[in-house]
Amino acid sequence: MIKNDLFLRALKGETVDRPPVWMMRQAGRYLPDFMKLKEKYDFFTRCQTPELATEITVMPIKQIGTDAAILFSDILVIPQAMNIEVEMKNGVGPWLPNPIRTAADLNRVVVPDVADSLNYVMQAIDLTKQELNDEVPLIGFAGSPWTILCYCVQGQGSKNFDKAKEFCFTQPEAAHELLQRITDTTIAYLKLKVQHGVNAVQVFDSWGGMLSPVDYQEFSWKYIQQIVDALKPHTEVIVFGKGCWFALSDMAKSGAAALGVDWTCSARNARYLTGGNITLQGNFDPSRLFSPPATIKKMVKQMIDEFGKDKFVANLGHGILPNIPVPNAQAFVDAVKEY
Ligand code: CP3
Repeated sequence: MIKNDLFLRALKGETVDRPPVWMMRQAGRYLPDFMKLKEKYDFFTRCQTPELATEITVMPIKQIGTDAAILFSDILVIPQAMNIEVEMKNGVGPWLPNPIRTAADLNRVVVPDVADSLNYVMQAIDLTKQELNDEVPLIGFAGSPWTILCYCVQGQGSKNFDKAKEFCFTQPEAAHELLQRITDTTIAYLKLKVQHGVNAVQVFDSWGGMLSPVDYQEFSWKYIQQIVDALKPHTEVIVFGKGCWFALSDMAKSGAAALGVDWTCSARNARYLTGGNITLQGNFDPSRLFSPPATIKKMVKQMIDEFGKDKFVANLGHGILPNIPVPNAQAFVDAVKEY
């Protein structure tokens, strides 16, 4: 059904001629056409207007030629739908004016009807599917409950998410209540995305690496596992935990189709920790895209040699940086295609 199904075949562990390639945050600020739209419309207007979200989603497909599209949206549309205000401030990033700090704050947090409150995302999926015309698969995504909690409690980005951790460790009951409500919302949201035609889903646990291995099990993994269990009958699930190499062996037993790896974990170690059988995705250092294109190409070939061409999805180890020259992003994608 999908003309270029390399990505879906890699997720299923099938033998391929070369690995598929896409880039986390591929629809972003390094693209000049993205910046033109950013000047005209604020961030959540871009997310909430299906025509804009679709136009941005297909940009990297048309301009860079990645093997999969990821819907332009944000992980923070979930807290918004749960009645937690989220703004995107220029120069600051996510900004939540009324963060959750106590059990009483939970009184205003709802588990919404996602078909209603996140209908704009579903419209964006419908339109993007039309626009993509089954050329490449479309990835849907959500943040992990822990990563969402980080923003809900901290109120903004942070180097250590100290307030989020303090909340979990001083008010664990309230923390678990919040995590469960986020999980329930996320499961309903991702299931609806699948009904609207996304071909795989990725859970971003961007701040999982802030937790110790023991706390990770309690405050993050437990909830991601619920999401994998609920979505697995319906689609392929990818779990990306930044800094979470210590959890890879549990993740490999979870039923996820693939696991994301960041650049601090070698291919060899990631294969060892995951038992060698599950598809891995990553793990080029996003800053390495500053190297000259010839160096990028050489390093990408090395990366694929180390992971192996099968059961591998070539990607960055985290999102692409805003100031990467387009020819360098192009060199990354081309190098995989030339493998
Ligand atoms: O990958 C894609 O191209 C799809 C779109 C996507 C965005 N955010 C668009 C976006 C995805 C998958 C995300 C996920 C996301 N959002 C994560 C998890 C992945 C990761 O990078 O760790 C997180 C932690 C967020 C929260 C968030 N939203 C942050 C930290 C920021 C950056 C703030 C800044 O100013 O640097 C955003 C804003 C955001 N989301 C941008 C984009 C393209 C940049 C701001 C803009 O375009 O105005």
